[in-house]
Amino acid sequence: MKQFAVIGDPVAHSLSPVLHQEIYRQLGMEAVYEKVHVTPDQLSDFMTQNEFDGLNVTIPHKTAVFPFLNELNESAKIIGAVNCISGGKGYNTDWIGFLKAMEYNDVELTEKNCLILGAGGAARAVAYALIKSNVNSITIANRTKEKAESLTQWVKLQSEIRVKSSSPEHLNTLTSKYIIINCTPVGMWPDTESVPMNVNDIDENQIMVDTIYNPLETEWLKQGKEKGAKIVGGLDMFIAQGLASADIWFGENISEKVDLNRLKQILKAAI
Ligand SMILES: NC(=O)c1ccc[n+]([C@@H]2O[C@H](COP(=O)([O-])OP(=O)(O)OC[C@H]3O[C@@H](n4cnc5c(N)ncnc54)[C@H](OP(=O)(O)O)[C@@H]3O)[C@@H](O)[C@H]2O)c1
Repeated sequence: MKQFAVIGDPVAHSLSPVLHQEIYRQLGMEAVYEKVHVTPDQLSDFMTQNEFDGLNVTIPHKTAVFPFLNELNESAKIIGAVNCISGGKGYNTDWIGFLKAMEYNDVELTEKNCLILGAGGAARAVAYALIKSNVNSITIANRTKEKAESLTQWVKLQSEIRVKSSSPEHLNTLTSKYIIINCTPVGMWPDTESVPMNVNDIDENQIMVDTIYNPLETEWLKQGKEKGAKIVGGLDMFIAQGLASADIWFGENISEKVDLNRLKQILKAAI
């Protein structure tokens, strides 16, 4: 019986066990998946002693696990964060999850102008996905200006794409058609009334993507939908990053064999 787990601090809220157990159930696989609460103090002991066949890694360990890995794949190395470990090698599947979610929802990224809200780990994975998709431009708006600037510099190092940072206060004047991606936790349960950016300038020309999946439709997306924008919640990205992890662990195209609608239903019921 293969054994997998997600580690994090906190981790009690994680839906990864529900996602992976449903994949194993659908495909009749002999495997179990659990969540393990690992504090920063416990990380070293855990990483050197655990016997799991594979791990997902969440906040705050996505970078802290580096010293315990033998190798990083290219995207994890560039993004500087690992959310999946297999055989001592670290991977980042968040950016793949984002791209797949765009694909599932018919959002074409190539040549588009994109606005990222936030400048943390998820923002960097999304920026990497946008670079890979040859978008026209990237604007990064973050509460802490220095972090927005640092991510802007990072994008410049990786690509020729036009990139600039902005402050959240200046976002009231969206002058063109944007794909806006919320990579902050603003609006996540239990803070469900908050929005990462006001929707004054939103209209049917905008596409709004939230990385948050609890709630399934954030207040920000609800307000945007009322203004006519196309909206995409974070559940598809979450499912796709999990499927990409399963593909790595089992070395096969698990993602093409599962019943996605059923998986989504199970997760929606668990939220
Ligand atoms: N759907 C998925 O599969 C998936 C995958 C990964 C992450 N996510 C989601 O992405 C979000 C961010 O995760 P992360 O790993 O990037 O976290 P992170 O590295 O801690 O970054 C959080 C970012 O949000 C900003 N922020 C936090 N609280 C804020 C507030 N009250 N007002 C304005 N800005 C705020 C931070 O700004 P400062 O720089 O000013 O602190 C930072 O830029 C989470 O909601 C997470 O659930 C979803």
